[in-house]
Amino acid sequence: MAILKIARMGHPVLLQKAAEVADPTAPEIRRLVADMMETMEDAMGAGLAAPQVHVPLRLFVFRVVADRASGDPDDVAMPNSVVINPTVTILGDDTRLRWEGCLSIPGLRAAVPRAWRIRYEGVDTEGKPVGREVTGFHAGVVQHEYDHLDGVLYPMRMTDFSLFGFNEEIARAMAARS
Ligand code: NI
Repeated sequence: MAILKIARMGHPVLLQKAAEVADPTAPEIRRLVADMMETMEDAMGAGLAAPQVHVPLRLFVFRVVADRASGDPDDVAMPNSVVINPTVTILGDDTRLRWEGCLSIPGLRAAVPRAWRIRYEGVDTEGKPVGREVTGFHAGVVQHEYDHLDGVLYPMRMTDFSLFGFNEEIARAMAARS
């Protein structure tokens, strides 16, 4: 396994539409997914899309750690997972601001409007179907990672730029408020 180099905002690979994965069960895809999971863990991220490691293919890895899940029945902790050739369907019209960061935009975070409830589908490296109806953090991270496959970064989804800043400053401001 290997830690991969992460593309940072400004690199053109992050702005292009990624291509479908022809064979999700191919050995090179399995290797890429393993390396992406290792890279995500090393960087302490919640998700990583293939274009972020300079591979313009439609797949991403992610995880839901217990202390980020909302506690909603459709938003519980989940170990490292992969979704290849995903589709995302927004369910309902409940949109909420959620704080997100991105490994391609290090040190910063922002409040980004995301659908609360979605359904997603795709396959894993064995070609088996994955995905289901989810809410909260799980739904948010899937929307964020899916956007990477279409060349969309979270600042392009923002509606209130006053809620955009450096991690340390936002943490300090929140601590001061509480
Ligand atoms: Ni990201």
